[in-house]
Amino acid sequence: MNKEKPVESGKVKYYLAPMEGITGHIFRKAIHDHFGEGIDKYYSPFLVVHEKIAISNKELKDVLPRNNEGMRLVPQILTNDAEGFIRTADYLTKLSYDEVNLNLGCPSKTVAGKGRGSGFLSDITGLDGFLYRIFEGCKCSISIKTRIGIYDPEEFKELISVYNKYPVKELIIHPRVRYEYYKGCPHRDIFFKYMEQSLNPVCYNGDVFSEKDIDELTAGTGNRPGAVMIGRGMLKDPSLIRRLSGGKKYTKDEIKAFLNRLISDYKYELGGDKQVLMKLKELWGYLGQSYQGKEKVLKQLLKCTTLQELKILQEQMIG
Ligand SMILES: Cc1cc2nc3c(=O)[nH]c(=O)nc-3n(C[C@H](O)[C@H](O)[C@H](O)COP(=O)(O)O)c2cc1C
Repeated sequence: MNKEKPVESGKVKYYLAPMEGITGHIFRKAIHDHFGEGIDKYYSPFLVVHEKIAISNKELKDVLPRNNEGMRLVPQILTNDAEGFIRTADYLTKLSYDEVNLNLGCPSKTVAGKGRGSGFLSDITGLDGFLYRIFEGCKCSISIKTRIGIYDPEEFKELISVYNKYPVKELIIHPRVRYEYYKGCPHRDIFFKYMEQSLNPVCYNGDVFSEKDIDELTAGTGNRPGAVMIGRGMLKDPSLIRRLSGGKKYTKDEIKAFLNRLISDYKYELGGDKQVLMKLKELWGYLGQSYQGKEKVLKQLLKCTTLQELKILQEQMIG
């Protein structure tokens, strides 16, 4: 397990966000090897708690230290069952992880509808009891990734007072409420208002796509987040964190090498061309947004039915 790197004072840390179905170990390792400069931590997409087994084979593969060599990975757990959380965290501790992350952000109906992810935010008393139990029972550090409420951004006032009762390693705040899903603008005003009140270190997450977004978050003399987590911005431009850390935007050769690496590693992992095609098309749905003037080719790429076709259209996109 890679130890957390000490960070120069005043420097913002950057994290790759967990994205279920996208940022699994194959993608993370490719990002780390091709565009890892400046990325301080990686978060796994959520692992669920199981009744009879500690972890599924697919989940284990994703967090096995040998599949995540050279990077600091924080596995994420999604549950509202404290004993299940402790069991899963203990298993991850044995795998050498010293930090796990609690998902209090997932807005999807299947998750939140069962009181997990952002759905747990509607039961403040239950959440408080859950946090009391896991902070008492876990041997490792616990960070939290949270939304700011269910309906109203001001719900965060009460939530932050609950989080302040516990030694949260880092509070990652996505300033949207559950029912906003990923739409509209994040409530940065609410983020700044309540980060002032947090007794725990704070990380910002949401709609960071450019240097300008980072300047708005980190400039000025007031209290500023020590870390920023980026998801879709890294799918749109995999060199975004490198750029934000003073490096360059990817070159054509670099993006080609990255995509070829993904194709080859997904082929090895998933076998069938169809599954590899789906993975690449999903990524192009984001990556393609930064290729202006290529909308027609992108449309063809997102509709194509063979990996062979995708490779040809990919070349046309990159040029
Ligand atoms: C396809 C997809 C899958 C996601 N999966 C997870 C997940 O497993 N765990 C989690 O905490 N957040 C998940 N998220 C939310 C992201 O981590 C992040 O909070 C969100 O995309 C906002 O950040 P961004 O604007 O930088 O993308 C997911 C988001 C997307 C779009």
